[in-house]
Amino acid sequence: MRLPHARGPMSAAVVGALRDDLSADGLADLWRHAHPAADPRTDDDLHLALWVVYELHYRGFDGVDPAREWDPELLRARLMLEERFEEALRADAAPVVAQVLGELGDADPATQVERVIASVDGPDVSRFVQREATADQVLELMAQRSLYTLKESDPTSFVLPRLDGAAKAALAELQYDEYGGGRADRLHATLFARGLEACGLDPTYGAYLDQAPGHVLAGNNAMSLLCLNRRLRGAALGHLAAFEATSSLPCRKLASGIRRLELPDELWEYFDEHVEADAVHEQVALRSICGAAVDAEPALRADVLLGAAVYLQTEATTGTRTLDAWQQGRSCLVSAGEAVPA
Ligand SMILES: [Fe+2]
Ligand SMILES: [Fe+2]
Repeated sequence: MRLPHARGPMSAAVVGALRDDLSADGLADLWRHAHPAADPRTDDDLHLALWVVYELHYRGFDGVDPAREWDPELLRARLMLEERFEEALRADAAPVVAQVLGELGDADPATQVERVIASVDGPDVSRFVQREATADQVLELMAQRSLYTLKESDPTSFVLPRLDGAAKAALAELQYDEYGGGRADRLHATLFARGLEACGLDPTYGAYLDQAPGHVLAGNNAMSLLCLNRRLRGAALGHLAAFEATSSLPCRKLASGIRRLELPDELWEYFDEHVEADAVHEQVALRSICGAAVDAEPALRADVLLGAAVYLQTEATTGTRTLDAWQQGRSCLVSAGEAVPA
């Protein structure tokens, strides 16, 4: 993947340090350069900078030495950006988590996560796709989603070595499915790439990075934040459970919208595959993974709910901004280096 265009001083510092293979000295007080009104939930500059430093743990960038993954200055910069982001995510999630813990006390974690899901409102983008979206809008949505879906489930793999026993066995089973059940051509990321290509979109990993708005990068970054920090493993599992438990029905609606618009079958197949798969994954994630993890480590309970709320709230932000853009006659993508309107 090529390094992206910077969107402000923080991403310019990170991208510049990687592009020129320079020492990243001076990144330590990166946040000092942030725009005073920057919202750590969605800021384009912050989230591009953070996305780029996280990417060093996945596939990396063309021409960038893989050893930069452990560059202490880049890690320090990452921690500083993460701290701002995590603080905002926790502030947003806290009321929902407190309410569910207050009302449902010691109920099983699956029931509690289901209550978090019922408590967080968000727009139904899949319903819009099913009934009203144009083909161009669906293609924009696919390009937007490709940032995560071309590495579908990869962040979650980082959580496996942090678990043991029943939760680990169940998570490995779920990941096995996401990774095609032993068949490279059935890797979910590969099914999605096939769908992109059939629609005339670029299936290359990271191809739409420059066009992804900050709120989309933030959704990706939330997952990396939770999955790459062992202290947040409970939240990573709650995030996964909320994702899987809110996927099957929306995938059915997306598949139906894709049929309505006569978009290629390959794209339809990706979503159709997830109608059944995620109905199963929902139960595995809620009961076998989150339930077993909390049984083994009761102290993880509140973090599981935190992760669920983080997923639902970041998803709601992206859904709202996507539908707003379309309602205003704009694309839900941005042009390279352009900041999205607040
Ligand atoms: Fe999947
Ligand atoms: Fe799934």
